[in-house]
Amino acid sequence: MTEHLLIDSFYAQKQKTLRFEADVYDCEVIGTVPKELNGALFRVGPDRAYPTLEGDVIINGDGIVSAFYFEDGNVDFRCRYVQTERYLTEKRARKRLYGAYRNPYTDDPSVANTNRDNTANTYGFYHHGKLFALREDSHPTEIDPATLTTIGEYDFDGKLKGLAMTAHPKIDPVTGEWWGFGLFSHKLFEGEMALYVVSRDGELIRDEEFKAPFPGICHDFAVTRDHVIFPVMPLVVDIDGARAGGDFYAYDPNQNPVYGIMPRTGTVADMRWFEVPHAFMGHVMNAWSEGDIVHFDAAISPGNPFTFFKDKSGNVTEPVMGLATMTRLSFDLSNHNAPVAVQPFPNAVGEMPRLDERFQMSRYRYGYGKSRNGIIRLDWETLSLDEHLTPGARTQEPIFVPRMTDAPEGDGWLLCVVNRPEENRADLLIVDAMHIDRPPVATIRLPFDLPMAFHGMFQPGIISNR
Ligand SMILES: [Fe+2]
Repeated sequence: MTEHLLIDSFYAQKQKTLRFEADVYDCEVIGTVPKELNGALFRVGPDRAYPTLEGDVIINGDGIVSAFYFEDGNVDFRCRYVQTERYLTEKRARKRLYGAYRNPYTDDPSVANTNRDNTANTYGFYHHGKLFALREDSHPTEIDPATLTTIGEYDFDGKLKGLAMTAHPKIDPVTGEWWGFGLFSHKLFEGEMALYVVSRDGELIRDEEFKAPFPGICHDFAVTRDHVIFPVMPLVVDIDGARAGGDFYAYDPNQNPVYGIMPRTGTVADMRWFEVPHAFMGHVMNAWSEGDIVHFDAAISPGNPFTFFKDKSGNVTEPVMGLATMTRLSFDLSNHNAPVAVQPFPNAVGEMPRLDERFQMSRYRYGYGKSRNGIIRLDWETLSLDEHLTPGARTQEPIFVPRMTDAPEGDGWLLCVVNRPEENRADLLIVDAMHIDRPPVATIRLPFDLPMAFHGMFQPGIISNR
């Protein structure tokens, strides 16, 4: 069976739940943790606290936030469930009460008036001195970065009118702004969306609403120095199906994706929609503008990468159709009718793309991702691909940390959790990002396995309380 990289079949179907919260003080380390690494790697993923419905999907799990705290060559680990209303309601009842992903029609009637969607399970994100667990259909949930205790939902002092804030925010390395958006921002499921910008200091300074051409998923987006890009994919809301107890989304193989592109200094009224040949964008690596050309680099598969959602006819997607290759799309804004240039990066089959985020929104050279066999590094200048092999292990999202704030692009480390299913354990690898083919400079060994965390980031200077 072809392994599926976005959420591979092992984790989608067989992932064991952790079901405990852990503190590991002074983790076992093989090798030497670089002294320059001081701060916290925050990650968030799904971990069902109670068994869910048969056939439920991994993205419906309860959010668990974890941190590896680095301090002078030592590493401490901690993980905590996000204390969402949903998690606490089931915990009080000691049983499952909520049904399928984004489908209230499958819930126990006793939870009809509770916040059933916010599992806070997708992205551990730090901005303006605060840590958040993000989930794309809900408000951010604030977490104490030193203890990982839950503070509560966050609405920017009441200014966030929309009901949803993306779990794929971008931090502008020049302005410090947090750029985000809302998908189905009023839960009408008619393609209503919103652009949000949060200042470096945490004030919501832009909130502009617009409508996509069809109610498809927009899981990730991109910002350049000059443009904002919203990719809307053909995984379409199926309210009738949900009412009948089925899935919230259905894949439509006859619907082409559309990309909304607007000038960054304009408004959503300036949005232009570009239809592209059928292919499915899962996650963005980076994007940048070169005059009227917008380059957009992402993991793109021939068909639906969320293979646990069936198509409109009820057919299951072949896993190979969800297998993504890192690909550059180039849009020519001077000619709306020009075909979009499509440049797959040679042999770069992978997902969970990241970059040296000091180069977010600008022309850049290096990108990273998880591959079938480990971690890949893409050099967009030479189109060469390097790989760090992890035999017998399954990699999660690799996160880049620069050696110093002013180090050259790509000079630093990749932090990557790998699962070792045969040992029922997980490790955190620290790999030299300029020499990823070499053995890790350090391996932090955990005495238990970790559920897949979807996304996270490293924040310098954070230490745990202990
Ligand atoms: Fe994601």
